[in-house]
Amino acid sequence: MIREVRNDRDIREAIEINLKTLPEHYPEFFWRENASLWRDLFLVGEVDNRIVGYSMSRIEIDEGFFKSDIVRRGHVISIAVLPEYRRRGIGTALMTETMKRMKEKYHADEIMLEVRVSNYPAIELYKKLGLMIVRIIPRYYRDGEDAYVMAKPL
Ligand code: ACO
Ligand code: ZN
Repeated sequence: MIREVRNDRDIREAIEINLKTLPEHYPEFFWRENASLWRDLFLVGEVDNRIVGYSMSRIEIDEGFFKSDIVRRGHVISIAVLPEYRRRGIGTALMTETMKRMKEKYHADEIMLEVRVSNYPAIELYKKLGLMIVRIIPRYYRDGEDAYVMAKPL
């Protein structure tokens, strides 16, 4: 089941999953700020009442990747699923609900995100959902790895 974060406990669970699964971590205030500003884009995936995945996104105003104009862009800041729960469609469900909300609630023109060029599983997931690699940001990550920017018109 996919739902919005509801409380502090949900946010703490998302932070826990992030610490276990990704090298990119954020200060607690950043998680809380996103939960208060963009609650309906901060989703968790539950299995048997246990939170096993999250996605955290926001809306930004920036130059479009598909229109040479200023657009409303949905930015997926972070998404992860616990290793034991992968390949069951939870990542897809989090992304699909996020895209729907970005479009319907915020009238976002496009969705975008950054991903490590070596992160094959995530890149495959995004490609399957129709996102395309639109640019490379050299040395985007602290350890020097490049990022692909992937995006799709909504
Ligand atoms: N190898 C190849 N393809 C894969 C893999 C993999 N390991 N994992 C997912 N895919 C592709 C497949 O096409 C898959 O469909 P299929 O299972 O029918 O073949 C499709 O993606 C959908 O997979 P889901 O089951 O919906 O995705 P999952 O719930 O496993 O979550 C995720 C994918 C979130 C990338 C997970 O692997 C994860 O948490 N990874 C670690 C954290 C991470 O890298 N997050 C993304 C960082 S970038 C960012 O946050 C913006
Ligand atoms: Zn980003």
